Amino acid sequence: MNLFNVYPLYNIIPVKAKGCYVWDNKNTRYLDLYGGHGVISIGHSHDYYVEKITDQLGKIGFYSNSIINPLQVELANKLGKIANCESYNLFLCNSGAEANENALKVASFITGKKRVISFKNSFHGRTSAAVAVTDNISINAAINKQQKVTFLPLNQINLVKNELDKGDVCAVIIEGIQGVGGLDEGNTDFFQKLEKICKEKEVLLILDEIQSGYGRSGKFFAFQHHFINPDIITTAKGMGNGFPIGGVLISDKIEAKIGMLGTTFGGNHLACVAAISVLNIIKKENLIENANTISMYFKERIKEIPMLKQVKGKGLMLGLEFDFEVAELRKKLIFEKHIFTGGSANKNLLRILPPLSVTKEQIDEFIKSIIQILNEVEVKQKTHQNE
Ligand SMILES: Cc1ncc(COP(=O)(O)O)c(C=O)c1O
Repeated sequence: MNLFNVYPLYNIIPVKAKGCYVWDNKNTRYLDLYGGHGVISIGHSHDYYVEKITDQLGKIGFYSNSIINPLQVELANKLGKIANCESYNLFLCNSGAEANENALKVASFITGKKRVISFKNSFHGRTSAAVAVTDNISINAAINKQQKVTFLPLNQINLVKNELDKGDVCAVIIEGIQGVGGLDEGNTDFFQKLEKICKEKEVLLILDEIQSGYGRSGKFFAFQHHFINPDIITTAKGMGNGFPIGGVLISDKIEAKIGMLGTTFGGNHLACVAAISVLNIIKKENLIENANTISMYFKERIKEIPMLKQVKGKGLMLGLEFDFEVAELRKKLIFEKHIFTGGSANKNLLRILPPLSVTKEQIDEFIKSIIQILNEVEVKQKTHQNE
């Protein structure tokens, strides 16, 4: 059987990884400034994480959600404390799209309404409602296009107000910081007014922290930069450091009903242990503090890069915007300098999403390499002009 061919692939075969490095099958070492798409939070194959998951696998890996699983309670307590979200209730699932799907479903259950407000350039996943609220028509099939969604520009509160006044909206969904779209974000005034207007109109505010959460922005959740309390928060990626797990944090004002949501695999024993280990390491190794320290260092050193237009994002969720398309630069970084970075919908933007344990020396390695590449390109361009 062949694979269903949906991914454009780089010709690299990773076989092992540790911390911020990945090795391929030819034993070439790559510096991972992409974290497998913002997934690796505590670093690859962290000893404590490997030990805890291995140990759990030897005990019990999975059992049904109709039987008590104390690991889910331990995870909810730990997450509540470290994220300063103790009043929320946690529903566990398996991925980011699933977290958003459940969040939107809760909003629709609670309000009895079905239209959703989302934002231009947003990405919320590929399942039914999650893809419908994603601003990319090419990944929406006819079945998804049935959903009622209105896309608005960020930071224009009056446009949101006009839509909510119509009285048919169940939820506003917004990323803490846009990931796939290219690192744009709402400002504090916008987020605060959004929170207020959603409360007034009894519309649920869903914060998609799937990429921007788990310390990546320099706070546990990116919306915490704006001092708001969303009704629902969704999380995945960094939560399991590669082990598939997603979570929906639901305000205690929203009442759960037996059977309202459900999943076979969500919150299984292995996933919970992976997620508990991640939280323990984030705390023990002060990784959110490290994200802030390295971010400041990065933003200083980045000034040395020629041709850079601007730096976007917060913490270790950064975008380097150039005035040219970065696809070639990314390829050169991978194949000549052995450094992974990411792209985005904005073709001029290089995305940096390293493990939160990344060091200053590793940032130095990146700066040196990217300067070398850009200087070579500049020299070539000049030679070409003089010919
Ligand atoms: C902000 C955001 N929401 C949702 C998703 C979907 O997550 P998943 O691929 O785990 O379904 C992603 C994935 O990139 C994301 O960046």
